Amino acid sequence: MARACCQRGLQHGLPAVEARRLALQQVQDRARTQADRNRLGQFATPARLAGELLHYAHRLLPTGSVRFLDPAIGTGSFYSALLREWPMAEISAATGFEVDAHYGDPCKALWHGTPLQLRLEDFTAARPPPGETGRYNLVICNPPYVRHHHLQRTVKARLQLRSMLTTGVRLSGLAGLYAHFITLAHAWMSAGALAGWLIPSEFMDVNYGRELKRYLLREVTLLRIHRFDPTELQFGDALVSSAIVWLRNQRPVRGHQVQFSSGGSLSRPKACGLVPASRLETAPKWRGFPAALSGGPRSDAATLGDYFRVQRGVATGANGFFIMTGEQAAERRIPAQCLRPILPGPRHLELDEVQADAAGLPQLARSCGFSTVGCPRRRSAIGTRISGATSIAAGQRSPRDTCVAGASHGLRRKCARRRFFCARISRAAAATAASSVSFSIARRPSPPTAT
Ligand SMILES: C[S@@+](CC[C@H](N)C(=O)[O-])C[C@H]1O[C@@H](n2cnc3c(N)ncnc32)[C@H](O)[C@@H]1O
Repeated sequence: MARACCQRGLQHGLPAVEARRLALQQVQDRARTQADRNRLGQFATPARLAGELLHYAHRLLPTGSVRFLDPAIGTGSFYSALLREWPMAEISAATGFEVDAHYGDPCKALWHGTPLQLRLEDFTAARPPPGETGRYNLVICNPPYVRHHHLQRTVKARLQLRSMLTTGVRLSGLAGLYAHFITLAHAWMSAGALAGWLIPSEFMDVNYGRELKRYLLREVTLLRIHRFDPTELQFGDALVSSAIVWLRNQRPVRGHQVQFSSGGSLSRPKACGLVPASRLETAPKWRGFPAALSGGPRSDAATLGDYFRVQRGVATGANGFFIMTGEQAAERRIPAQCLRPILPGPRHLELDEVQADAAGLPQLARSCGFSTVGCPRRRSAIGTRISGATSIAAGQRSPRDTCVAGASHGLRRKCARRRFFCARISRAAAATAASSVSFSIARRPSPPTAT
């Protein structure tokens, strides 16, 4: 398999060492489970893309010697591309950080005899160079995409503090690890250094991206953001829509304009335009650019939400407990007003459009399910006060029964601590379901799907 990979590399005109790196990457990836790779954001940059980034960087970097830093090097896709792009004589320093010896050790062996200094350490804990001479004029990185839920509270607090001390930016607790890599790398860049960050494009639109955007607009000169078409995923195994953010380590000049491009490739985008930085300061979402420059949606234009309720399904945290068939609901004697019809997951739907019957129930080949979460009435059956003597309705299932049933679905702790079962379960469910990516658009008043 490694040999096949080598041959593939050579076929694409890559030097033999890059073919060896690709083979190594494959072997190391396969030795890891998907869960392990998720935990440390271990999804390598495809060689072609790495080459494109370094080629672009070469155009932007003034001639002279290059001091290269990759704070999350993996097996060295960017370093390999650096060697293909720059003559060795012009590379005066090259440093890579890798926290995981599984990738770091073979990387070290592969690049032995080249200028690379590989540091098997956590970049976010490393002490930056004390003076300008030790800093780097080229930072290229695909930082680990580790969502904030997977960062321990103490780690998050340390990252926030360090980011704050480095750049004055207080990143949100919801920011992923990649955002901290960007702010922390600030202290490693020499004046005027160029950086290219391959990151998920979500920061452009979400609230927790606000502080990162402030950093990009105020502390450095944001040169360009290229957003890949989300339908052309860059990482087949990571399923993330990506953007490349280019910046220079110098404060922006008045009237600065940022290049926005999207689709296609970095060198041949499908759309491209210049956006005044002043406009970005006030635009809450950036993903619309460059399309928003001309004929994009106006802020006063009607949106889908004016006609539909757009909802991301119902996150219950325990579908087996909260979602039931009509027969089960009848058997449990849960009153109709406490139930909300719910569609099966999209992959089980055979139609694009689900009609409602006269009673507002979805017309499906098989009968729809019901949920007791998301019920318009606050005091739903499951939402009845657990500590009191009130039961769902006189003579019907008692709160205790509900608790006992809930405990078998892993809800015991929530049940014991929480005053209002439904409200608290809903919140817990929202947290546990935050990583879900399925969306549903439900036409009022048709039901949501279970997520
Ligand atoms: C998205 S991969 C990129 C690897 C390589 N640069 C590439 O583009 O193919 C991120 C790498 O960062 C490493 N990593 C994760 N957390 C790190 C940390 N705190 N410090 C240094 N490296 C880290 C992971 O083990 C992984 O190899």
